[in-house]
Amino acid sequence: MCGIVGYIGHREAYPVIIKGLKRLEYRGYDSAGVVLYDNGNLKLSKTKGKVSDLEERAEKEITLNGSIGIGHTRWATHGVPNDVNSHPHVSNSGNLVIVHNGIIENYDPIKKELIKRGYVFHSDTDTEVLVNLIEEVKKQEHIKLGKAVQIALNQVVGAYAIAVFDKQNPDEIVAARLGSPLAIGVGEGEFFVASDASPFIEYTSNAVYLDDEEMAIVSLDKPVTIRKIKDDSIVDPYIQELQMNLEQIEKGGFDHFMLKEIYEQPNAIKDTFRGRLRADEGIVKLSSVEENLQKFLNADRILIVACGTSWHAGLVAEYILEEFTRIPVEVEYASEFRYRNPIIRKNDIIIAISQSGETADTLAAIKLAKEQGAFVYGVCNVVGSSISRETHTGSYTHAGPEIGVASTKAFTTQITVLTLMALRIGQAKGTLSRADFHRYLQELDHVPQKVEQALEHNLEIQAIASKYKDAPNCLYLGRGYNYPVALEGALKLKEISYIHAEGYPAAEMKHGPIALIDEHMPVVIIAPKQEHYDKIVSNIQEIKARNGKIIAVVTAGDVQVKKLADYVIEIPETSDALSPLITTIPLQLLAYHIAVMRGCNVDQPRNLAKSVTVE
Ligand code: F6R
Repeated sequence: MCGIVGYIGHREAYPVIIKGLKRLEYRGYDSAGVVLYDNGNLKLSKTKGKVSDLEERAEKEITLNGSIGIGHTRWATHGVPNDVNSHPHVSNSGNLVIVHNGIIENYDPIKKELIKRGYVFHSDTDTEVLVNLIEEVKKQEHIKLGKAVQIALNQVVGAYAIAVFDKQNPDEIVAARLGSPLAIGVGEGEFFVASDASPFIEYTSNAVYLDDEEMAIVSLDKPVTIRKIKDDSIVDPYIQELQMNLEQIEKGGFDHFMLKEIYEQPNAIKDTFRGRLRADEGIVKLSSVEENLQKFLNADRILIVACGTSWHAGLVAEYILEEFTRIPVEVEYASEFRYRNPIIRKNDIIIAISQSGETADTLAAIKLAKEQGAFVYGVCNVVGSSISRETHTGSYTHAGPEIGVASTKAFTTQITVLTLMALRIGQAKGTLSRADFHRYLQELDHVPQKVEQALEHNLEIQAIASKYKDAPNCLYLGRGYNYPVALEGALKLKEISYIHAEGYPAAEMKHGPIALIDEHMPVVIIAPKQEHYDKIVSNIQEIKARNGKIIAVVTAGDVQVKKLADYVIEIPETSDALSPLITTIPLQLLAYHIAVMRGCNVDQPRNLAKSVTVE
């Protein structure tokens, strides 16, 4: 996720763009840049850091006048955050400039082809490839920018929201989207292009939201033109009047970032698949796994280190990796690992999982493992973070920035990456049959859709939340793959609602927690129709016999649990191994609604920080 802003009109563009970028910083904040057009010149300033760093730099580096410009606040996906990789990117001729939010999957072959034709690249980004592809098309076909963008976009695979500007034709900005949001603000003799309406809401409440595969050309003194990228056909612009206030817009219309991020999960998972999963062709590929495949094939053991929610993702991965690859896996709290004298053998692989990439204990565990000669693989969300630099290699989760302190989309995308990893290793080792491999690939491809179906139960979950919002305690139970999900569900509830909650493997209940059960104790039980279903039904009966209140997450169409539970939340049918990606969703929503009803600060719960850089 990144934020983009463009302006063309009668005002000075710079203040509009800078203010707009600040409002979009929730979308990314590792680097920022701006380009202004003034009297035949492009004035570019960009830097690693926040928009305030850009402001400081731009004010020293360039004159700030010009009534056309584009700007960007970045959340790195290709290339670490640094000055060179920051946007805008300029084409080789120096005429075209672009800002981009998204991922171009096939940038590598395009880049190679452009290099053959004499193009030179300065950054590691896919975006610089795109702007030069547009330039090449424009040059070859002798066409205007809009047409060149349309042809070039038909050659790329991936996701994008872009704004492009041509110094030689300085009275228009071309914008386009596929899979990343883009809004056009329509003012009096001026246009705005932005990732959401927050940068222009104070200037105009008229907006056109582009649909996927649409592009817009905004020019001085002309109405906005919208075209289909596929066939260049004209689309009638639907100009709507915005009713939302600034805060609502930044949160995408949601009341809290946490809820927004819960709802972003279908796309976050799709973004994590991007370029890595091609289910129909039977291909799953994580470049860092490919480069180190032999190490994985020779591994005697995988040790996972992480904290909090990331540790729960590690527990899910333990089940999946062992099942698919037959490599023994151990999962450890980074804070424990670093302070004991862990045994690390020659063929052990360490996987460190971290959303922020800055967690002090995880970082220290990595350093310790490296000192002992281990090969360390990172799974991080923040590109260029300390953990991603400290590990030997790794894979990013591409969830986009997670602003809510309680981790949601980071968790599901961590599981997604680790599942892709397990599938590829299992395929290469032959520990996963061909049939199972292909079945999982197909099923994985449908996970975003199933997450969407799970989200459709939001209102029912809100109603259930209203029944239990005053409970002092809550128990979460699950078995197998869903035992870590029970732990995660309990963590979500306790951290944002301050209700004491515990997660347990369902069968462990009789070894202690059963003593807690009475008519006041809500028990959330993850009971999809899969292996051990009968056993979980028995657990439910045990709770029922002690008057416990049962909220069960069940497979759509379930009959047996429905008869016993006080409330059920349905999820679509999924195989055991992939079910945590779906069963997690209702538990996130339940915690969220309970916390809201208790008047808690959901996005910034007391005593917690988003990245824990102290031990
Ligand atoms: C819980 C939560 C924390 C983090 C933990 C690790 O919702 O967010 O438990 O998961 O602090 O953080 P990362 O993943 O950034 O290393």
